[in-house]
Amino acid sequence: MLLELLMAALLGQQPATPPPAPPASGPTLDYEFFKARVQPLFTEKRVDHARCVTCHAGSTTLRLQRFAPGATAWNEEQTRQNFEAARAMVVPGSPGASRLLRHPLARAAGGDVFHGGGQHWTTKDDPDWRVLSAWVNGATLTAGTDARVARIIQTNAAGDNIHLIDPATNTVVGVIHDIEVPHGVTSAPDGTRLYFSNEALHTLDVVDAITLAVTARIPLSGRPNNVFVGKDGKRVYVGIAQAPGAVDVIDTVTLTNAKSIPVKGAIHNVYVTPDGKYVVSGSIPGRMLTVIDAATETVAWELQMSAGVRPMTFEQAKDGSTSRIFVQLSDYHGIAVVDFASRKEVSRFPMADIPGEEKHTQGLQGAPAHGLGVTPDGKTLIATSKVFSQLYAYSLPDLKPIGTVHVGQHPEWVTFSPDGKFVYVAAAGDNAVSVVNIATLKEIARIPVGQVPKRNGTAMLRR
Ligand code: HEC
Repeated sequence: MLLELLMAALLGQQPATPPPAPPASGPTLDYEFFKARVQPLFTEKRVDHARCVTCHAGSTTLRLQRFAPGATAWNEEQTRQNFEAARAMVVPGSPGASRLLRHPLARAAGGDVFHGGGQHWTTKDDPDWRVLSAWVNGATLTAGTDARVARIIQTNAAGDNIHLIDPATNTVVGVIHDIEVPHGVTSAPDGTRLYFSNEALHTLDVVDAITLAVTARIPLSGRPNNVFVGKDGKRVYVGIAQAPGAVDVIDTVTLTNAKSIPVKGAIHNVYVTPDGKYVVSGSIPGRMLTVIDAATETVAWELQMSAGVRPMTFEQAKDGSTSRIFVQLSDYHGIAVVDFASRKEVSRFPMADIPGEEKHTQGLQGAPAHGLGVTPDGKTLIATSKVFSQLYAYSLPDLKPIGTVHVGQHPEWVTFSPDGKFVYVAAAGDNAVSVVNIATLKEIARIPVGQVPKRNGTAMLRR
């Protein structure tokens, strides 16, 4: 019997027991849902697995289209053909009877006896499997709940992956694969997608919030550094870290590179002010801070600084407009203060030495202090120091030191829990994320992540 099944499987035949009969009238299979959620699963890189498309483009019964020469994605016509190919492998309304869902599913979880392409999903709770199941049950993109989950997104600057941390449990609950040297992260305000700048391919990579599969890679005008989404989610701004310097503007509806705004100097970080009105970029070689009007996508003003412009963060006035920009600079262990209205640097102050703390002087990459953020309530400025492996807190608006706390080595970036009570510090030198309670200035957890974690962010993702 077993031999018979194996033979049947190897020959690509159906197992002896036929699948249950389809229901008399099943739900309609939605094309847009297929295109956005299901099709990317065929190109998704799962650890230890070959991609579906590698084996199924061409001659197998599940016949996916081959990419056009040089293309990294399917065009509309090919997507239609893939839709038909996948449709032939499912029974609408009955995920358990659908070969597309049963074949790559582990046998112990109810999958078929053998799949020449391996067992991709160990349980029916796998997000990929749930998406396939939703499609077979007639899901559409607009329908469904708007339930969200909070996630801390931690990129790994020397890795090819990104870790997702649940701030409720401070554990890693998901990993995004196949983005080599991810630089920055930003998330769609509607919680459906994450965007990452990919330094290896020079692309902006779009990731589905539910399946964590890469759904698109949009070519950029050069090697990127950091990214930031516009307030309404229609634009993503990408800093291009190559001379002469530019901020690429990605249209998130058409998923194309709509425009490249020339600025002075290769860009390191880019931000959108909390009121959504301005895009602010910083250049290390140009020592330039550039403020772009988000409505016209043209440069509004620029400020020459004394040193390379590193992380920045923004203080809001009562009406929500930007009052001050706090800036960290190359080779300066401190913070510069720029007044937004007068467009000038008005002061700067050093971050104090920490007696008794081991001093790091190597591998600072020109940035002794790197990592800045204003708490969501606007009351505290957080800054990190690579020299002293330390987090500093200052009260706002008076900038009085509140205290410091030891965190993991080479802290690089900070992001806050949605309730603003905790700050997540990327400790690049420890391959970990330090979690600090802001009220008590105590490190409450250290979470292992990937290689050299740098930029991170907070997202409210669709489940
Ligand atoms: C290493 C190559 C390989 C990979 C990767 C692979 N498959 Fe397959 N797949 C096969 C082979 C060979 C068969 C035919 C033999 C069999 O039924 O197992 C097959 C069969 C199937 C079938 C039954 C219809 C048919 O074409 O015979 C489905 C459905 C299927 N695969 C889906 C998938 C999906 C979905 C993925 C990705 C999650 C995937 N496969 C990954 C090799 C692969």
